[in-house]
Amino acid sequence: MTTKLKIDGTTYEVTVDDKTPLLWVLRDHLNLTGTKYGCGVAQCGACTVLVGGKAVRSCATFLDEIGDKEIMTIANTTDPLLKKVQEAWVEEDVPQCGYCQSGQIMNATGLLKANSNPTEEEIIAEMNGNICRCGTYNRIKNAIKKINAGA
Ligand code: FES
Ligand code: FES
Repeated sequence: MTTKLKIDGTTYEVTVDDKTPLLWVLRDHLNLTGTKYGCGVAQCGACTVLVGGKAVRSCATFLDEIGDKEIMTIANTTDPLLKKVQEAWVEEDVPQCGYCQSGQIMNATGLLKANSNPTEEEIIAEMNGNICRCGTYNRIKNAIKKINAGA
């Protein structure tokens, strides 16, 4: 079936089975490869995007669950909070290999949209499921702590 998706301010049409995972639609059908394929089974967080402002694992989010909610990915250039998060990542020099980082940044953005001033414990709890094989966890935490999401 044909589905309309609004992604980072652009409307796309895709003709795929409505049980297709969003990650496959982004990467394979729309060539939007900023969102990464890690485990494919909702265990690593590499594929995290926002759907309706909430962080979800796109490998385990199916097209028929999205409805008319907007999708935001790491490639979004207009969201002010995402921009702040990206700037904090640069200031803290967070990435090493970088593979997990688009998912980390989107998860952090989802966290800060829901909670503009998280405690250290809340940051750790919310970011806990996003795995970084390079071990950048402390720098991720420091970057999130310095973001003033409410300003
Ligand atoms: S690729 Fe989706 S959680 Fe690992
Ligand atoms: S920066 Fe390499 S996996 Fe996280």
